[in-house]
Order: sequence, then C-alpha cells, then structure tokens
Amino acid sequence: MTRRIPDIGLEMLSGQVEIDLWEGELPPPYEVLKERIQNAQGLLCLLTDRVDRELIESAPHLRVISQYAVGVDNIDLETATRRGIPVGHTPGVLTDATADFTWALLMSAARRVTEADTYTRKGNWKTWGPSILLGMDVSHATLGIIGFGRIGQAVARRARGFDMRVLYTDTKRIPEIEETLGVEYASLETVLREADFITLHVPLTQSTYHLIGEREFSLMKKDAILINTARGGVVDPDALYHALKTRQIRSAAIDVTEPEPIPMDSPLLELPNLIITPHIASASVQSRNQMAVMAVQNLIAGLKRERLPFCANPQVYNQQW
Ligand code: GLV
Ligand code: GLV
Repeated sequence: MTRRIPDIGLEMLSGQVEIDLWEGELPPPYEVLKERIQNAQGLLCLLTDRVDRELIESAPHLRVISQYAVGVDNIDLETATRRGIPVGHTPGVLTDATADFTWALLMSAARRVTEADTYTRKGNWKTWGPSILLGMDVSHATLGIIGFGRIGQAVARRARGFDMRVLYTDTKRIPEIEETLGVEYASLETVLREADFITLHVPLTQSTYHLIGEREFSLMKKDAILINTARGGVVDPDALYHALKTRQIRSAAIDVTEPEPIPMDSPLLELPNLIITPHIASASVQSRNQMAVMAVQNLIAGLKRERLPFCANPQVYNQQW
C-alpha cells in the first residue's frame, strides 16, 4: 500500500491481510516500490505511483492492482492485462464531488473569487465601484463539455439551475440522455467556437494527450474560460500559458497540471487570470472514504481471485489461458 488511506479502508483490511504500508507523506520512490513489491500479491496504489511495465514485471506474485482513484493513466493496463492482473479503480463515488468542484472552479473563475480575496487582503478595497473586479455571467451562458462520461454528465445536470445552453462532445453521441439532461451534441470544433465555459472530462489517453493546444485555443471565444479537472496532460501547458498571457481567452481554472506537482518556476504561476488548485476535485471527506472502501473491496476480491467489483481492464477476464 503506497500511502495511508482513510481508516475506514484500513479497518476492513485488518486481520485479513499482511500490509506493507509506505508511511511517507510523499510517494515511495520508484526503486523502493519496485523492491518492496517483489513478494506482494496485491498492490494498492495512488495516481502518484508510476506502475509501468518494468514495475509490474518485477512482481511475479502480483494478483491484483487496486488504484485509489478513478483515472488509471499512471498504470500500464496493457501489461497488467497481458499478465492476467485485474486493475481495480473507484468510479462513481467521486462523480458528484468532482462535478461540484468543477463548478466551484467555474464560478470562481467567472466571478474572480480568488483575485477578489487577494485584492481585499492586500488592502485594495477602498470603496464600492461600478467597474471593480467585473466578471462574466454564468447564468444563460453556453457551457461546453468535452468528455461526456459520468463526470461530464453530472456537470451538465448542475448547469440546468443556471439556465445554460449546454453543448457536449465525445467520441460517441448519447442521444437517449440528451433530452433529460437538456444538452446538445456538437463537434469539438463547434464546442470550442461557441462555448463561454469549456470544461474537460476525458480520461488521459494517447488520443487525448494535448487535446487542447494552440489550434484549439485559437478557435475559442475571446472571453472563453477553460476549466480542467480531468488530467493535466489533456492541455498543452505552453499553449495554455500563451493563450492566457496574450488574453486570447479570458481565464482558466485548473485542478490538474503537467507535470504534477506544478514546478514552482512554472510561468503559469505568474498569471493573474489563472486559478490553480492541487488536484483536489475528489477531496471531500465522504468521497475519499468511499474510495477507500471501494479500493479495499477490489483489493480483497483480487487477492481471493474473485472478479473485481470495479475493474478498469475487464478484458482480463475474457482471455484464454
Ligand atoms: C482523481 O484524479 C481520480 O482519477 O480519481
Ligand atoms: C449591491 O450590493 C446592490 O445593492 O446593488
């Protein structure tokens, strides 16, 4: 177990398995993990651990990898599958927390909440003024959602209260939910051109790496606001810097960066029109507890060679041996 998870998860494991727990505040170094995984039957890991081919192949007894997160881009799924190792993850229990936080960022960027707080604390609040810290209306604006899985849909549901026009794009259209959610399907290009707020909810894969780059920023409205609670790698950081610096778009709010953590000398940190939070969209007490329960359920099932309740590589069960 590469980090201490909430007690509720540890309690489920007590007496059932022998745990080699990395107690560090920071992730175990790659070489340390590689060494300590050699005799393990199960791995409970975080998105901060690089679980690549070399690591998986250095663990001959491994029966299960259980990730304490929904995204599994840090894990080489192909190698795990080839070796017959199911990979667990935690979908569903962090959907609402992540959608809520997406809205927290969206509203903060729209109405400049973090800038306004800094302004106040610095003693700039001299009077009420007609044009101090003006932001953009969220109500009646157009919201563009890129990636329409569980989290993208939960974000759309929340938009209804703001009477927004909601456009979504994904590799596949889901006509049956369009009416219920009040959303319209559009091409990526249309979403980029027409949305006032653009929010990303795709997993990081080879085809979504730097999905938002120079060309995409050039298509956006001058007052567009970009929100990223997906993965840092979905946005080209140089293109983001350029778009914000030259006011090609209005502002952005990101919970994820490439790399993570963001280096303290990153030029992004100097931009007043960018909000950056440290990858905390799922960080509610309730979500993190439920993620612990789910990760442990996956771990225990895998150790018993039972089917994982939440498996990220279900094709592992269809292979012929
Ligand atoms: C968090 O980013 C997750 O994938 O659960
Ligand atoms: C603002 O506080 C107003 O009363 O319009």
